[in-house]
This record gives sequence, C-alpha cells and structure tokens, in this order.
Amino acid sequence: MSKIIDPSQEGAVRVRYAKAAQSREQALCCPVDYDPRYLEAIPAEVIERDYGCGDPSRYLKPGETVLDLGSGTGKICFIASQVVGAEGRVIGVDMTDDMLDVAREAAPEVAENIGFANVSFRKGRIQDLKLDLDDLEKSLSEHPVGDANGFLELEERVERLRSEQPMIEDNSIDAIVSNCVLNLVDADKKRLMFSELFRVLKVGGRAVISDIVSDQSVTEEMMQDTELWSGCLSGAMTESDFLEAFEEAGFYGIRFRKFDVEPWRVIDGVVFRSVTVEAFKGVSDDSEEAAVCEAIYQGPFKAIQDEDGQIWERGDRSKIGKAAFERLKASPYGDSFAFLGIGGSDSPQIQYQAVSANSSTCCSDDSCC
Ligand SMILES: C[S@@+](CC[C@H](N)C(=O)[O-])C[C@H]1O[C@@H](n2cnc3c(N)ncnc32)[C@H](O)[C@@H]1O
Repeated sequence: MSKIIDPSQEGAVRVRYAKAAQSREQALCCPVDYDPRYLEAIPAEVIERDYGCGDPSRYLKPGETVLDLGSGTGKICFIASQVVGAEGRVIGVDMTDDMLDVAREAAPEVAENIGFANVSFRKGRIQDLKLDLDDLEKSLSEHPVGDANGFLELEERVERLRSEQPMIEDNSIDAIVSNCVLNLVDADKKRLMFSELFRVLKVGGRAVISDIVSDQSVTEEMMQDTELWSGCLSGAMTESDFLEAFEEAGFYGIRFRKFDVEPWRVIDGVVFRSVTVEAFKGVSDDSEEAAVCEAIYQGPFKAIQDEDGQIWERGDRSKIGKAAFERLKASPYGDSFAFLGIGGSDSPQIQYQAVSANSSTCCSDDSCC
C-alpha cells in the first residue's frame, strides 16, 4: 500500500483529476460499454479521459432536466444531451478546473454535431450545490480578501451567493446522474451530499448513480491513503450503507439497477465493485390524506414493507390516498401492485387492472387515475 501523502481527501482528489484531465490515467478506468450511437458526436479527448464505472445515462428520458455530479470531461453530459433531446437540458457540475476546461471546450463541437446546444458546465462541489464557485471567483476578483475583516465579509458574501443566486435551485431537476464520483466526497461531507441530491430534485424526480461500493467497511488506514481514496477505492461505502444513505436522505423506491458480480478490485480482502442505484424523491407529506384508492400487492413474496413502513400482505387490499397512490405507481415496485378505485372491482364502473410503473392509467375512477 502506498504511504500517506496528504491528509486532505478533497485536495488529493483535485490534484489527481487535474492531471487526469490532461492525459488519460489508466488506473482510474473501469471498463464500461456506452451506447456507441451517442459516442460519435463526442470529441476523442473527452471519450479517452473517461473515468466512469457505469452508465447512468441509459436510464434517462427525452425532455428531462438532468444534473450530472462530477461531470469530468463531460462524456455522460454529452450522452445525456442526446438522450433528453433539444427539449431537455443537462447541467454538469465539477470542482476541477482542468476537467471543466476540456468539457467546456468540447461543448460547442458536440452541439454542432447533434444540432442543438443544451449542456452547461458549472464549477462547484457536489456537497454544496448552492455555491457556484465561478460566481465566488468573480466576487473575489472584485473584492480581494487581505485580512481577517475581509474574511468575515467574504463569509457573508458566500452566504448571500448561496441564497440569492444558488447554482442549482431547490426542486429543479428531473434526474440526477453521477458516474464514479460520490465515493470521492470527504467522509464527513457524504451525508450533506445526499441531502443536496434530495434538495435539488423535483418531487417525483430520481437519482441514478453509478459508483464503487465495497462488500465490507474500509479500514481507517486505507481511508487515510489518499492514493486509494482519489483512485475511487477507499472512499467507497459498503453496499448496504450506500442504500441506507439514500433512505436517510428521504429517498424511496431505492434499488440496484445494476450490480457487477465481478469485482473491480480486491485490496486487503475488501472487494470493490461497480453498482448503479436508482432512488426516487417522493411526493409531499400525504399522511393526512383521505384514502380514495385501493391497491393490492400481487406477490410473489408473502409480504413486503414500503418506505413509509406499511406492510403489504400478498393479495390483501389496502386503502391509500391519491398522493401515496401516485408515488407507489411511479416507484420501481409499481409493477407489483394492482390498483383499484375506491369500491374496487365490486363497482361495475371500475375495472380491476394491474398497471406498469410507467402507465398513466390505473382504473376508470378519476379520483384515482
Ligand atoms: C472518477 S472522475 C469521473 C468523471 C466523470 N463522471 C466520468 O464518468 O468520466 C471524478 C470526477 O469528479 C470530480 N469530483 C470529485 N469530487 C468532487 C466534488 N466533491 N465536487 C465536485 N466534483 C468532484 C473530479 O474533479 C472528477 O472530475
């Protein structure tokens, strides 16, 4: 194991990725198959400096507003740009200037190749999506800081920037993607980062995150090794902690969309692998809502528990409110339910119909559909 070179995890990440933006670093690559159709429009230097471990862009839909966390040289943004189309929008956020330089230089070329421009790149940290670091730099050049009073004023200005011109507004994003970045965020900032993901998503929006996870906790010694940390290894959370972090931040319908059985690396017995997790931001509080719909859990398990703690027994009817219904329908487990209007199949007007998660119909009763 390499020796400890720098106590700062974030500092080490910035230094390493500034270099990796200039020329490809082989050790940072985890082989990923992207849809070749989308790669044609993207300059070679972007594709070559690919440091991803999955492909969250394949879960996006046309027309969406997408935020890519840790966008690097921009590959996922440029793929997403084509998936969401001219009606959609993509924002890439990265904290490393050299990465942003490559991405921003490539953007006009991609726009020309695909016929529209819908991607922008912002300088910021993904655990602080309110603070636009380009805006901060502009403010610093206008009011340089030379003493402690200047520092105190700067703190006030930073707070004003966050509240008056947030880089990413609350409830503004349909889908967050990220490719091999969350693990790089300082251990004591990870919780904050998950809450930022939740803040910026629209209600009903979702995060699709490809990242490295471990099968057991990483040792303190490995975490102190900035080479391993910046190499997307020792900052990895365990598989279960990763899912729990989404849950703690308020997400629901959380699941692995992809789980690489084949390890990426094994170090001192700790197995690191790539996964892609999907998690939804739910509707607003519906606990007081009147129950106007019925749903039946169709199986195959004997019973399941949803994120609200409700136990669904196989085959039993449960009454739920409209908001809870909508959330259930849009969730990954929507396919497991049959949805009925109040009165269910006993009413001649109402059809008993299982719906897919993407279907807009559930029953013929408008109170529920
Ligand atoms: C492993 S690379 C992945 C880049 C890109 N997602 C890809 O698929 O090629 C990690 C990127 O995340 C950025 N990064 C790491 N920590 C960050 C943070 N806390 N805030 C913003 N960007 C960060 C780095 O600058 C780097 O560009």
